[in-house]
Parts: sequence; C-alpha cells; structure tokens
Amino acid sequence: MLKIVVCVSGGGTNLQAIIDGIAAGSITNTEIVGVISNNPGVKSLDRAAAAGIPAFVVRPKDYAVRDDFHKAFLDKLAELQPDLIVLAGFLVRIPEEMVKRYPGRIINIHPSLIPSFCGTGYYGLKVHEKALERGVKVTGATVHFVNEGMDEGPIISQKAVQVLEGDTPEVLQKRVMEEAEWILLPQAIDDIANGRVCMENGRSVRKV
Ligand code: GAR
Repeated sequence: MLKIVVCVSGGGTNLQAIIDGIAAGSITNTEIVGVISNNPGVKSLDRAAAAGIPAFVVRPKDYAVRDDFHKAFLDKLAELQPDLIVLAGFLVRIPEEMVKRYPGRIINIHPSLIPSFCGTGYYGLKVHEKALERGVKVTGATVHFVNEGMDEGPIISQKAVQVLEGDTPEVLQKRVMEEAEWILLPQAIDDIANGRVCMENGRSVRKV
C-alpha cells in the first residue's frame, strides 16, 4: 500500500480528485495518511475532514524565520512517514532538504504544458493569466517528479487543453482542471502505486 501525504494551499479540487479516485477504485493500492496545508481555513481542510483524513496546518507566518517553518514542515512529514508526497496546489516553495530526503518520492501538478508558463511566479490563476496574455491556443497540465529546480523535475505526464475565444483566466483554469488535472494526477498516483512509473537516474521511467 502506497502511503501518500497530500500538500495543499487552497481549494483542494485536486485533493478531492485523489480522494474520489481512491473511493472509486481508479487509484488502487494507495492510502492518504495525511493532508498538510500552509493555510488555515481553506476548503482543502474541509475536504480532508469529510473524508476522515488527518489534516494539519503548518503556516509560515507562525515562525520567526523561514528555516523554522521548514523544520516544522519536515518534522510533520517525517511523522507521517509517506512513501510519496503529492503537491496538489501547494503554492509554497518547498525546502531544499525535502528533495534530498525524498528523492523520486515527490510529485507536483502544474497547470500548464511545462516548460511553458512555469517557474518562479507562475502558480494558480497567474499561469492562466500569462497563457491568455501570450495568446497561446493550446495549454494544459503537467505532472512531474520534483527535483531541486522550480518546475524542472522529470515529466511523468502531460495533457493538452484548447484555449477558446473569450476565455477568462477563471474559465480557462476550470477547463484545464476538468480536462487535464483531475485526470492526470490520480492516474500518476495509480501508476506509481502499482510500479508502472518511477524516477530513475533523474528521468521519469514508464515500465511496460
Ligand atoms: C491547481 O490548478 C494546480 O495545478 C495549481 O494550483 C491549483 C490548485 O487548485 N498548482 C500550481 O500552480 C503549482 N505551481 P486546487 O487547490 O483546487 O487543487
């Protein structure tokens, strides 16, 4: 059984897709052992509670310096002993130490086709604002293993989504979630849980 911890910051629709996938049996061999949010009072925490999953808030503001926040966050992770950490709309830069501690065991969902519209400053709705500003006709989502870089880790899967005339960032975000994110992330977890995907020598490898 793959024990996963899901890290969130806000609405938690990707967290919900994982919860629903496990309940429906489209994600197998997987248990969510905890949810960690950097924000109190967000809908993600209600979703975890409704599913009976232990949820924790580790908030940067509660610590005098960043290092102390990182330590508290890493301590909480260590306590939960995850096999895999899923960044599902976790909009905080993770501690470098975390990548060292969990090599090939952290994945992230990003709402664009990496390497477009990613890196520092590209998160949440901002990604879709930038895509619309640039006038791309196709965008999408990417699931990748996390390495030391920002959105630079080995790509596991990607799915393209059409940009339509008159799209607002909100409308585009919703389409990317519905047509790509909520499909790709549960699939990637199921693939990892069942040994079909792993990280080897800095690459994402799919076993046939
Ligand atoms: C999602 O679109 C996710 O891809 C994005 O934040 C949103 C969270 O929504 N993540 C990033 O931008 C990471 N760089 P959710 O809380 O409803 O899952």
